[in-house]
Amino acid sequence: MKLIVHPGEPLAGRVIPPGDKSITHRAFLLALIARGPTRVFGANSGADCASTLDCARALGLNAAYESGAWNLTPRPLTEPARVLDCGNSGTTMRLLPGVLAAQPFLSVLTGDESLSRRPVARVIEPLRLMGASLFARGGDRLPPLIVRGGALSPIRYALPVASAQVASCLLLAGLFANGESAVEIPGPARDHTERMLRAAGVPIDETPIAGGGRQVCVTGPARPEGGEIRLPGDFSAAAFFLAAAAARPGSRVTAEGVGLNPTRTGLLDVLEAMGARIERTCLREEMGEPVGDVSVTGPDRLQAFDVPPEWMPRLIDEAPAWAIAASAAPGISRLAGASELRIKESDRISSLSKNLSRLGIVTRERPDGLEVEGGVPRGGTVVSDGDHRIAMAFAALASRAASPVTIDDAASIATSYPGFAGALAALGARVETENERP
Ligand code: S3P
Repeated sequence: MKLIVHPGEPLAGRVIPPGDKSITHRAFLLALIARGPTRVFGANSGADCASTLDCARALGLNAAYESGAWNLTPRPLTEPARVLDCGNSGTTMRLLPGVLAAQPFLSVLTGDESLSRRPVARVIEPLRLMGASLFARGGDRLPPLIVRGGALSPIRYALPVASAQVASCLLLAGLFANGESAVEIPGPARDHTERMLRAAGVPIDETPIAGGGRQVCVTGPARPEGGEIRLPGDFSAAAFFLAAAAARPGSRVTAEGVGLNPTRTGLLDVLEAMGARIERTCLREEMGEPVGDVSVTGPDRLQAFDVPPEWMPRLIDEAPAWAIAASAAPGISRLAGASELRIKESDRISSLSKNLSRLGIVTRERPDGLEVEGGVPRGGTVVSDGDHRIAMAFAALASRAASPVTIDDAASIATSYPGFAGALAALGARVETENERP
């Protein structure tokens, strides 16, 4: 599927983004190991979360969708009769092994072409230290991943990178180990697993450490209670519209009911530093997560800004959205300390650089970041490299280009936000979809 975006008016209006993808994965996994049934309201309906649910079902979870909620009933986990397909989802591939490592059976996890290039050694190493046997392709680096689980010992482990996926994997494994596990996260990575476990009755201890990180402890054996989980809107989905609003005078976009967990909203700090007006209203807490409405108004002139590297974990998924604003700010804006971007759904540093250049925006790639010189994008064709966030970023950016922009291979958007094109059009963008010939 191709998306063609024509030049149009500044974006204006309100948007309700889909349920948070990160939290939906966790909701399905906690339901799989809960003591009782779980109802999940407002789950993300994208392909990534469907992969997690499909894997959970293959392990025994009973799932039925009814009246806007997933009704999930756990059963004793059983050895899956088939390979677990994580699709495009790094979160499924990294979190699920935490549960599988503790099960007395063999599981094989695989994924699509993109996921098969993304590292799994980061979960293999600590789970081996806990006593599980894991193997992977390319010298235990790349999927498929084989897990032979069993009894686990608690672990004390300092993560080499501030990855919420690895931390969450180890906390899930820690639930099954006898005693206290302690995980040190060296930066402000998202903390949804910690908040959800607490909300589900599992005590979690957190102590801040230097560098904005924290040590998180969980004591096993412990299991989450079931109950109701209500999802906030996905800030990472809203980010494309919010950044596009910042990028153009006369724009104003409000995202309603989005998760405002400070470990996720680094992009708002960046847009504010660039001169955009940010308003947070209707603030509340739901299931231990801050939620509210966010409005972004485009300033007359956006200012170039260098994102401090220590902010990066708080906008790790928003680098593509950042590029929308950076490409609109006269002068040079920079990202640094962002080498993790090279191992996301695509190499996002190179995908952003290549596609911005195609639209006439000058960029310079660094091993761990990107420099962007703001200007007016010309029309042209960009390639998403199968990466949903690259496709969405360029569709939102295209609304201020000088002539039409085609996003080739925009089908990947369904990974996280099946209704994206409609939402962009509802804000005033002139969007056309074109299906590839079979
Ligand atoms: C995620 C954590 C981040 C993020 C990913 C989702 C999560 O990855 O980029 O999209 O749900 O825990 P890392 O933990 O590898 O930084």
